[in-house]
Amino acid sequence: MTSRAGAALLQRALDHAHAQLADQTSGAVANYIPALAAMPPDLFGLAALTRGGTLVEVGDSRHPFTIQSVSKPFAYALALDLLGRRVVRQGVGVQPVGDPFNSIELNPQTRRPFNPMINAGAIAVAGLLTEALGDQAFESLRARLSLAAGATLMLDEEVYRSEAETGDRNRAIAYLLRAAGTFHCHPDRVVDTYFRQCALRVTARDLAVMGGTLAAIGTNPLTGAEVFGVDAVRDTLAVMFTCGFYDGAGDWACRVGLPAKSGVGGGIVAVVNRQLGIGTFSPRLDAHGNPLRGMRACELLSEDLGLHAF
Ligand code: DON
Repeated sequence: MTSRAGAALLQRALDHAHAQLADQTSGAVANYIPALAAMPPDLFGLAALTRGGTLVEVGDSRHPFTIQSVSKPFAYALALDLLGRRVVRQGVGVQPVGDPFNSIELNPQTRRPFNPMINAGAIAVAGLLTEALGDQAFESLRARLSLAAGATLMLDEEVYRSEAETGDRNRAIAYLLRAAGTFHCHPDRVVDTYFRQCALRVTARDLAVMGGTLAAIGTNPLTGAEVFGVDAVRDTLAVMFTCGFYDGAGDWACRVGLPAKSGVGGGIVAVVNRQLGIGTFSPRLDAHGNPLRGMRACELLSEDLGLHAF
């Protein structure tokens, strides 16, 4: 198949998924971070980037929103690249757990968070990065995520402040992690890195490029930038596959069959290994905090294009 025929096929699949779901209004925009509630609920955008650099988009694919938990796999990949697997594994496991994303619980055997996709694990990763990089931790994250997106990602000050003012649960997790010895720097500095990381502004198009970078084993298909090493990408995709949808991860693996990560800002990144990155944006969430139309769009694309891993 020519790449033009491939692009047309991909565009058709995206258009079809978008049209199928355009009228769906179930779910609600997140409001536990007050500034997130201001997002118009019915925005809906899809984008995909092939490893060969073909980008297709439909709907509100260039509307900005905050990355939230979709940042977690990329922060994890950065930590693996900078600190190595041994150090990172001492701070956080790779074990799926049937708990919600904001659970305040450590693995009783290891006294470490179960995996880096839940908040506790992502805050452990932010702690490792803050300990290693000091005040540069957030800028290093921003720079690496920007390279993955092929765009300069900016901080949404309002969402950052809103989460900093209300994020006591995450603050409690950071204090617990310091008590457990995951890191030794001040928990307030760690959550500050984490809150900023979550408040980076992206679009569905950016997420497609970031997913495409993971699909292309760490090389951005649009810019050619080498963003992550192969070992970091492999571990990251493995935890996205097993843990990316929290307590819904098993269901996602069966229905969609792709490594992916959701965020309460409305974004999802999904990866077809060595082939394709998918970015979706739709702010209405289900009871687990996952974007409803984005999940359904990934399922439709997986069915239409035969993307399921098995
Ligand atoms: O820590 C939080 O609660 C948010 N900054 C991110 C949570 C999130 O995106 C959960 N994902 N579906």
